[in-house]
Amino acid sequence: MMNPANELLIIPFRQEDLASVFELEQLSFIDPYPWWLLAELARKNPTTFLVAKLKDRVVGYAIIDGSEDYYHLVSIAVHPDFRRAGVAAGLLRALEERLTDGATVRLEVRESNDAAIKFYLKHGFEKRDIVPGYYADGETAITMEKEGRKES
Ligand SMILES: CC(C)(COP(=O)(O)OP(=O)(O)OC[C@H]1O[C@@H](n2cnc3c(N)ncnc32)[C@H](O)[C@@H]1OP(=O)(O)O)[C@@H](O)C(=O)NCCC(=O)NCCS
Repeated sequence: MMNPANELLIIPFRQEDLASVFELEQLSFIDPYPWWLLAELARKNPTTFLVAKLKDRVVGYAIIDGSEDYYHLVSIAVHPDFRRAGVAAGLLRALEERLTDGATVRLEVRESNDAAIKFYLKHGFEKRDIVPGYYADGETAITMEKEGRKES
C-alpha cells in the first residue's frame, strides 16, 4: 500500500483533471454531479477545489464552495481502490489550511452513508439537522458543521 505522506500530492484542480474527477464522481455517487457543474465549481473556487494525486493519477478530490457567511463542503470522494488510507483526511486538512477567516464549514450527507459520517465525526464535524427528502431519490440528509479556524 502507498505511504500517503511520501507519495500523495494534494494540489489545486486543473482543467486537465476534469475527466478524472468526473470518472471518480461516477464511481463514488449514485447521483453524480454533471460535467458542467464540476467545471463551474472549478471556475468559481480556484483555491478550494483540490485533487489528490498518486504519481500522475487523480485518486481523490474535494471541493469547498464559498458562500456569503459560511463554507460549503460540496463534495469529497476517493477512488474505491485507495480508500481507508488517509487520502480524504489529507484533502480535508489541505482545505482547512486554506480557510483562515473562522467561518463555519457546512455539509450534507446521506443518512445511510456510514463511512462518510464516521469520517466527518472523526474530523471534528458535528451533526446539526435532519432534512427529510433532501436528495432526489427521497433520502434524508444529515447536515454537519465544523467551526472554522481563525488566524489572528
Ligand atoms: C468518505 C470517503 C471520502 C472517505 O475517504 P477515505 O480516503 O477512505 O478516508 P480516510 O482514509 O482519510 O479516513 C478514514 C476514516 O474515515 C472513516 N471511514 C472511512 N471509510 C469507512 C468505512 N467504510 N467504514 C467506517 N468508517 C469509515 C473512519 O473514521 C476512518 O478512520 P479509521 O480508518 O481510523 O477507522 C470515501 O469513503 C468515499 O469516497 N466515499 C464515497 C463518496 C462519499 O460518500 N463522499 C462523501 C459525500 S458526503
